[in-house]
Amino acid sequence: MLALLIISTGVKADEGMWIPLLLKKYNYEEMKAKGLKLTAEQLYDVNNSSMKDAIVWFNGGCTGEIISNKGLVLTNHHCGYGAIAEKSTPQDNILDNGFWAKNNGEEKPIQGMWVSIVQKIEDVSDKIIPELKGLSEKDRAAKLQVLSKQIIDEAKKGNKLEVQLREMFKGNAYYLFTFQRFTDIRLVGTPPQSVGKFGGDADNWMWPRHTGDFSMFRIYANKNNEAAGYAPDNVPYVPKHSLPVNTKGVKEGDFAMVYGFPGRTNRYEFSQGIELAVEKINPTIVNLRDIRLKAWKEVMDKNEGDRLKLSANYAQIANYWKYFIGQTEQLKRLKVYEFKKENEAKFNEFAKGKAEYENVLANVEKAYQAYKPYALQRTYLSEGILGVSMNAKASSLMAYANNINKDTAAANKALKSAMSGNQDFYGAFFPSADEKILAQILEMYFNNIPSDQHPSYMATILKSKGKTNTEKFSSFAKMVYAKSMFSSIEKLDAFAKAPSYKKLMADPCFAMVNAFYNHYLNNYKEKVDAFNDAMGPEGRNYIKGLMEMNPNKTFYPDANSSLRLTYGSVQSYEPKDAVKFDYLTTMDGIMEKYNPADFEFNAPQKLLDLYQAKDFGNYKNADGKMPVAFITNNDITGGNSGSPVIDGNGYLIGLAFDGNWEAMSGDIVFDAKYKRTINVDIRYVLFLIDKLGGAPHIVNEMNLIK
Ligand code: ARG
Repeated sequence: MLALLIISTGVKADEGMWIPLLLKKYNYEEMKAKGLKLTAEQLYDVNNSSMKDAIVWFNGGCTGEIISNKGLVLTNHHCGYGAIAEKSTPQDNILDNGFWAKNNGEEKPIQGMWVSIVQKIEDVSDKIIPELKGLSEKDRAAKLQVLSKQIIDEAKKGNKLEVQLREMFKGNAYYLFTFQRFTDIRLVGTPPQSVGKFGGDADNWMWPRHTGDFSMFRIYANKNNEAAGYAPDNVPYVPKHSLPVNTKGVKEGDFAMVYGFPGRTNRYEFSQGIELAVEKINPTIVNLRDIRLKAWKEVMDKNEGDRLKLSANYAQIANYWKYFIGQTEQLKRLKVYEFKKENEAKFNEFAKGKAEYENVLANVEKAYQAYKPYALQRTYLSEGILGVSMNAKASSLMAYANNINKDTAAANKALKSAMSGNQDFYGAFFPSADEKILAQILEMYFNNIPSDQHPSYMATILKSKGKTNTEKFSSFAKMVYAKSMFSSIEKLDAFAKAPSYKKLMADPCFAMVNAFYNHYLNNYKEKVDAFNDAMGPEGRNYIKGLMEMNPNKTFYPDANSSLRLTYGSVQSYEPKDAVKFDYLTTMDGIMEKYNPADFEFNAPQKLLDLYQAKDFGNYKNADGKMPVAFITNNDITGGNSGSPVIDGNGYLIGLAFDGNWEAMSGDIVFDAKYKRTINVDIRYVLFLIDKLGGAPHIVNEMNLIK
């Protein structure tokens, strides 16, 4: 039956990040067949409360879910990490020790944090696409901007909602998302990072996993339950819907869906893009990040306070450092290039004699040939030159420099904005590490970018003292950090009080950044733009053609940080020949991995004691073990972090926090055999709050289904 159904609707099981508005039309019957017990309206509705009202876009990069009628939000530990680290000092170290507010008054307001809840999704393609017909890429972009503003202004009229227009299928469809945004968000609790980040970067992106990757926040609203800025007398937000929590546990084959905000996928990438990523871009990002991570690690290992300051940055850079290693490895192992080539050959067969499509792939090839020799320029600028903290700070004054001789008001505004984050920036600035990073990155640039693509400033750098290039780069870096005003907040403040173009241009850090940046702007930006302009219509036509080629297939758009739902089931897998990975991990595995000498595998004594005493409360598995994490075959990506994993009744069974190593190419191709989503089991979350955190009052707030 299921097989028939899949063929008849053309929906490929388990792959797909679906637009909630369209579930009823495209997915609902299949979801029911797989175990969904709810109506389509219970998943998404505009006039009545529905599941979507419990899903929040968490601070722009993650997802969270509301799990009590007092605005309690569950998300990942790694999503709350920055806020938790920011609230930590060696005296009150909640990152390492954990924290649970005993009452609302103890919850910690997080400045700048926000969550948004989708109110409505609308297909506005008909208002846009006809207007764009026949326009050049440039005119198209301009027209799109005008239309977008019109549509957004219209939707905003008479309300306080936020509105976003999202392009789907590379411009074959447009959807409007309306949000309510809350900005009074407070930290409710977190486990110690030895639990919330157990396994660290060693286990990151891998299964089997034993990480209690969750933290909790609360949404506050004004007395009328409306979104409002922080105020001490704001009250917990009463949501339109909150997810009941299923404490009965999961088993293989159970229906599971994930609702959230996947960030970015590139499922319609061309073979040339894969080749470029594997051969050039990915290894470059990895090598450039390696430099940063090693230097930061040295600082972090020396001093606890410094470790707290650098932790969040380190985790962020390390996360995608490993991502690109894994992606490269799996793109090769799963022969994704060859797979794309085959699909492209089929497309060309179909495209023969069709004016709209027959040149698509030839044009793509042409665009890549022109772009490839320069493709690393952008990577070296963003991940290299601007990956050096002090350079990034210096670059924030470029807008000032560009305006000072033209438009004083604009220049002053730019200066003010550049200075605004100084306190935070210099609080976590380590010039001696930064200096090493600069020297090594410059040397890597010198060695890996063809010499005819070096800025002339490279010659200036190489005049520095030293016998070898390594010595020259290092004495140059030393000079920069000794002399630049960007090396300390005091010097920069002094400049801001008496700013001058001359002084800025004479600064060795600014001069260098300016040289590299302008070198890019003057010589390579136009190549990048030309590439994007050439690829825009081809990517769009390619998808349009694929849809025509497969009229019975239901397509889903690439992730673009808009609300999506993906459904499948709890599922084990075989990572390689003769190896089987079970779907559930337990605390037994924490004990196996436990190593107090390795900070990534250390664990709090209290957790070990609870394990020894088998003090698992009502949260244990049927076999008496304490569950930790489980896997599903859901189709997620970064941005889904913190997303609820929901059973067929609409109850929360876990929260998604990662993908698995064997499918790290998943943002480009979904591989049904290998692709899994890694989730914290909700029973482990409850156990950690109640037993480890001693905060049963938080558990009691929830609607537990026992
Ligand atoms: N890989 C996870 C994700 O991108 C993040 C895990 C964070 N943990 C870490 N060890 N850096 O969603």
